[in-house]
Amino acid sequence: MNPRPRRAMLFMPADDFSKISKGAALDVDSVVMDLEDGVAPDHKDSARHTVAQALQSLSFGQTERLVRINQLNSALAEEDLRTVLPALPDGLVVPKVEDPNALSALSARLATFEREARLPFNTFSLLAIIETGRGMIALREIAASTPRLAALIFGAEDYTSSIGAQRTRGGLEVLYARSAVVAHAAAANLQAIDTLFTDLQDLEGLRADAAFARQLGFTGKLAIHPNQIAPIQTAFMPTQDEIAAAERLIVAFKERQASGVGVFAHEGKMVDMPMIRAAQNVLARAGRLF
Ligand code: COA
Ligand code: MG
Repeated sequence: MNPRPRRAMLFMPADDFSKISKGAALDVDSVVMDLEDGVAPDHKDSARHTVAQALQSLSFGQTERLVRINQLNSALAEEDLRTVLPALPDGLVVPKVEDPNALSALSARLATFEREARLPFNTFSLLAIIETGRGMIALREIAASTPRLAALIFGAEDYTSSIGAQRTRGGLEVLYARSAVVAHAAAANLQAIDTLFTDLQDLEGLRADAAFARQLGFTGKLAIHPNQIAPIQTAFMPTQDEIAAAERLIVAFKERQASGVGVFAHEGKMVDMPMIRAAQNVLARAGRLF
């Protein structure tokens, strides 16, 4: 499996066509047009139509086109799906996921839509935001709820308010939650996307936070401003040296595989499956096929 890289995922309010068109031209891995908390209640309907219009009229290049819908099992989410799906986004970001059954029901509904519209199965991806105490303790079931799920996203702001923690710059209060999301994503073969960084002025702080997220095992991070894209994509992009080393290792592995050898020596080091998987991860993050 070689999933599309989602290093930086840029959010923008879905009722703001000019931000959507700006986001479409930035060559970011993913954009997320937000119908949930970024849009005032009395703008929801016009936001839905703005999203549909943007999907149908703008060119996004290689950028993945995602829509964050409102919370599942709400009347708002129903309306979101009705208006947005016919405009064919690449996937949906689902906020405050707590109930694995609601996610698998959504997946089934997407399958029905795909069948009726004669679209290939799994045309729409799903990405689940884990941002409540209930979501956190249901991680195992949520991660396994549907094969359509591509990523778990951690949302620190809602999470800390949901559990009554105090948000600090150091972020120790969310360390457990971040690592839990990474572990469950890894176990279910999903990407793990880290929470946003709210201080738009502090790009040094963002770089450090993204580097720490990478260190924890996240594969990408949310962005909320165009200036945040480059620092995030760089943090999650392997270096040229790492890419070249991973490519050499995979070539050597394929040669050994063809001759039926399991463990072998490569560039002076023993190589076994964990190192092959790590090299595959590096190439996946670099967007390389292998
Ligand atoms: N996506 C696309 N374009 C964006 C953007 C975003 N998230 N944030 C800012 N821009 C654009 C602005 O429209 C402006 O474009 P222009 O030069 O063509 O006028 C340019 O980038 C510079 O923006 P700036 O003036 O620095 O910021 P702002 O004051 O216009 O906006 C925010 C600040 C926080 C309101 C804005 O960044 C934003 O809406 N972020 C996303 C918030 C969101 O979606 N939250 C909910 C999900 S977590
Ligand atoms: Mg939230």
